[in-house]
Amino acid sequence: MKDSFYSKKKEGQRLVQSENYPKSISVFLHDSKKLYKQILQFKSYSHMIEAGCMNIGFALDCAIDKNISYYGVDPVSDLIQDFTNRLTLLNKSKKIHIKLLCGDIVQIKSLIKEDLKQISKGIVIFPFNSFGNLSSPEDALFEISKCGLDVAIFTYNTDLSSTQIRYKYYKNCSFNNLIQTQDVKGILFSSDEGLHSYSYNKKFLTELLEQNGFDVQVRHFAQLGILYIGHVDKRVHNE
Ligand SMILES: C[S@@+](CC[C@H](N)C(=O)[O-])C[C@H]1O[C@@H](n2cnc3c(N)ncnc32)[C@H](O)[C@@H]1O
Repeated sequence: MKDSFYSKKKEGQRLVQSENYPKSISVFLHDSKKLYKQILQFKSYSHMIEAGCMNIGFALDCAIDKNISYYGVDPVSDLIQDFTNRLTLLNKSKKIHIKLLCGDIVQIKSLIKEDLKQISKGIVIFPFNSFGNLSSPEDALFEISKCGLDVAIFTYNTDLSSTQIRYKYYKNCSFNNLIQTQDVKGILFSSDEGLHSYSYNKKFLTELLEQNGFDVQVRHFAQLGILYIGHVDKRVHNE
């Protein structure tokens, strides 16, 4: 995926430059960190899989704090390479078991392969609306559920004020032909460069999670943030 919108030298990088963040987006990221901790405290997870880790690893420090294994997944190869180099420099991989994997989260089963057997309790975390960037959220949730993993989706509300904050955020990134559309699933922002970012309607996402065997909890945070936590009912795929 060398020419991906999110590659190191491409325009998608503007989405993770703090000078482009309206205040509420900075608060969203700050509060997300507190919530990663709370999620990990709530159940005794042995593994965290971060989907859309970029070269950053938004939730990595929480995994280190809790001393659990961390898998970072992103389809953009140069981001995974850069993250790998940074981890070596920071010496972080000595603290916990870390694996960085280049691929689509929809391929989770083949990405994690044998390791899946060792996961006693695992959770897939989607930070900073990486879920809204998936090409098929339906397939991703189906595959995650099939692996018996819980899920935590950090995304945005679809009300007017949240959408206005998103507009300002993407506008600050100077994308060309920024277009906002709405359909039964939610609100999509797209641009000529390749931005394709959904925030899903609460009803749509809750039902999708439930259809895939997740017991859903919803929490609002920051001004525009919404967190969906799905605890998987492993019986769904054993029947
Ligand atoms: C962290 S999100 C940032 C989204 C942005 N903040 C927004 O408002 O839409 C971007 C990352 O998600 C990753 N991503 C997109 N689709 C993915 C997938 N199917 N599996 C894993 N990561 C994915 C991208 O490659 C990118 O590195």
